[in-house]
Amino acid sequence: MTHPGTTGLTPDSLAQGSTTVLDDDRHVDPDLARLARRAAADGAVLLRNGGALPLAPDARVAVFGRVQIDYFTVGYGSGGDVNAPYSWNLLDGLRDAGVAVDEELAAVYTDWSAAHRPDPGEWGTWPRSFDEMPLDAALVSDAAGRTDLAVVVIGRAAGESRDNTLEQGSFLLTDDERVMLEQVTAAFDRVVLVLDIGSTMDLSWLEEDFGHRIDAVLLAWQGGMESGRAVADVLTGAVSPSGRLTDSVALSYPDYPTAGNFGHPDVNVYAEDVYVGYRFFQTFAPERVQFPFGFGLGYTTFELADAGSTVDGDRATVRVRVTNTGQRSGRQTVQVYAAKPQGALGQPVLALAAFGKTAELAPGESATVRLAVDLTELASYDDSGATGHRHSWVLEAGDYHLHVGADVRDAGHQVPTVTFAVPETRLVRRLTQAVAPDPAHPFVRMRPVPDGQGGFRVDREEVPTSTVDRRVRILADLPEALLAGRSGITLPDVAAGRATLAELVADLSPEELEGLTRGDYVMDSPLGAPGNAGVLGGTVEALRARGISPVTTTDGPSGIRLSAYASLLPCGTALAATWDPELVESLATAHGAEMVAKGSDILLSPGMNIHRDPLCGRNFEYLSEDPLVTGRIAAAVVRGIQSNGVAACPKHFAANNQEENRNRNDSRVSERAMREIYLRGFQLCVAEGRPQTIMTSYNKINGVWAHYHHDLVTTILREEWGYTGLVMTDWWMQPATDPDFPALTNDAYRVRAQVDVLMPGGRDFGTDHGDGSLLAALDREDGLTLGEVQRTAANVLRFVLGSRPFRDGLR
Ligand code: BGC
Repeated sequence: MTHPGTTGLTPDSLAQGSTTVLDDDRHVDPDLARLARRAAADGAVLLRNGGALPLAPDARVAVFGRVQIDYFTVGYGSGGDVNAPYSWNLLDGLRDAGVAVDEELAAVYTDWSAAHRPDPGEWGTWPRSFDEMPLDAALVSDAAGRTDLAVVVIGRAAGESRDNTLEQGSFLLTDDERVMLEQVTAAFDRVVLVLDIGSTMDLSWLEEDFGHRIDAVLLAWQGGMESGRAVADVLTGAVSPSGRLTDSVALSYPDYPTAGNFGHPDVNVYAEDVYVGYRFFQTFAPERVQFPFGFGLGYTTFELADAGSTVDGDRATVRVRVTNTGQRSGRQTVQVYAAKPQGALGQPVLALAAFGKTAELAPGESATVRLAVDLTELASYDDSGATGHRHSWVLEAGDYHLHVGADVRDAGHQVPTVTFAVPETRLVRRLTQAVAPDPAHPFVRMRPVPDGQGGFRVDREEVPTSTVDRRVRILADLPEALLAGRSGITLPDVAAGRATLAELVADLSPEELEGLTRGDYVMDSPLGAPGNAGVLGGTVEALRARGISPVTTTDGPSGIRLSAYASLLPCGTALAATWDPELVESLATAHGAEMVAKGSDILLSPGMNIHRDPLCGRNFEYLSEDPLVTGRIAAAVVRGIQSNGVAACPKHFAANNQEENRNRNDSRVSERAMREIYLRGFQLCVAEGRPQTIMTSYNKINGVWAHYHHDLVTTILREEWGYTGLVMTDWWMQPATDPDFPALTNDAYRVRAQVDVLMPGGRDFGTDHGDGSLLAALDREDGLTLGEVQRTAANVLRFVLGSRPFRDGLR
């Protein structure tokens, strides 16, 4: 997978050579470990339970599947490459919980696994699953004779540069796994299945082939270093399962609306438009869903009742009385979905509008969950002018209903709790067209039309394309250059109020300005903690002489990736499946303290691209197919990390939905789908989490690489959303000439967009220098202006001023 324009080594191979551990400090803050374990347990989703769970206290358990030992605690690539101080696999987790594991069988698996160590593979070729141990019939029947039930575990992993595939051992079950399940379900009366996976896989076999023979199914995700103990907590009932799916599980891969438009190396047409995940299934194909979005069982049952919901102007307050009607304690997630009038735009029949989770409720106990929904949050983006308000958020005339349910399917069956009447189409916010498709590449998108039987069928319409003159837009908004005044100004002068930031910026030489627009060239910069991902800020001596500190970045999201031991947290999908921003924020708060201790100033986290398709290799790092869950959980991560005085870096902005040829493929997507789905989570995260930094993505969006995308980063992120932080590239970038300003190439093209910092800063992987493109463009006719470079320098310096190393240096 060599990328053109690189040294032959790929950015991929770089990032990745696993970091070596330089010291032996395996200490983990007990609170962080406790929260990681709790989050992994609370994110586990119980998909089925015929009564085998929770395990009886004296149950004797036979555990099958080599993954009980070779457990996948996280996915692959920068997001999972953490030197975990320890990892609990399932077998040890069960033992630790005091479960009477059949040790004879466990010994056979332990020996076999030791003799068949999986090949860890290289960057991008990691194993998606491991070969299964063949089972001797007598081994299975003897184990059945000694025990009360079987736990079978199946595992999968994917990662960066490693999508899932529609093959056995990836999205599909292997023949060996099928045989194992056949043998075990034939010999045991009760079988519990544990799925150790980072994103959803084909589960159709649960119905078709095994049906009631598998009594209980726990979707445990990849739970990080505490995986085995967290799963044991749920299996034993020490923790009552309360995870809920943040993705739909369809009956088969072709049922997904993205099937056929995913995985192409060059171009992926987002023909499903806003009908991603459950938005598609609820509207067009409810019968093709095996497990709906929001679904999850517990060890108890709940009743939801309206407790006097009200509407006051644009504000609805939904009050839901949740009563535990079962025999055990547990938590319930209340989900509120909006049903909007179809209007001229067309709408998914339901879209998540709010959610909230109860505390642990004892049998018979009730609690009231109160959720606020503002009508304006239900607005849709009109990219065609169909409502009379082109390029605007609008509420089309009609009734807007809020349905409460335990999952999306359940909500669809409930009468509305609240209805807002919108008598006439209402303009909520007028904007300007941005990130729209290129007229040179038109395409059609899905929209619903009534099918005559009370449902909808798929129709198609042309996607509106861009009418923006980008050159005019940019030239109309060029910042004035700051004129040099006093000289010798330092950043501590600015911090102390002896000079303004503008005065400092005006005093910087072109070379100093250039140093702020890139990192220190290489990963593992000597200016940062060993094993870092790169350093920005005080990259050159002249900047450091002005008191501008180097600031260290590390991956993220599942742990701090350094040449040191660091905690391995549950994967993103698991965190989101808790539906518990409060818990996630507490975990991230403890994690931020670990950053301080280990010397990480910016964690390249959270990963928050939408789960557009179940085959995306990085889904494990990301959160959901839904932007509200994505935005709320991501904001919780950001708040938690940043409460320690260090920074988060939500990524990858935006529409980075597959790994195949990730640096080169073009996500062709309507402006409406961008704004309602792919940008919405980031928008919420910016508003509610206030991240200090953001990372752009590798891919193109409608023909323009995200790291050059002026519409994306300046028009939308900064001007519309009011973001004032720093924007960095994903590692390296693709060389290009600005089509509207031929004097601008590479760094100049990027800085014009206000993608402030090239990370890690070198021209390519393996080089420790830039290409001179920024300074060259400053001198050219129709080139980059000094004001633009100063604006980017100010974005960087504002960040450095608040950064931990700078503040520490002032003490
Ligand atoms: C990944 C980013 C990561 C960066 C630094 C890139 O390959 O896409 O998510 O933060 O490397 O390791």
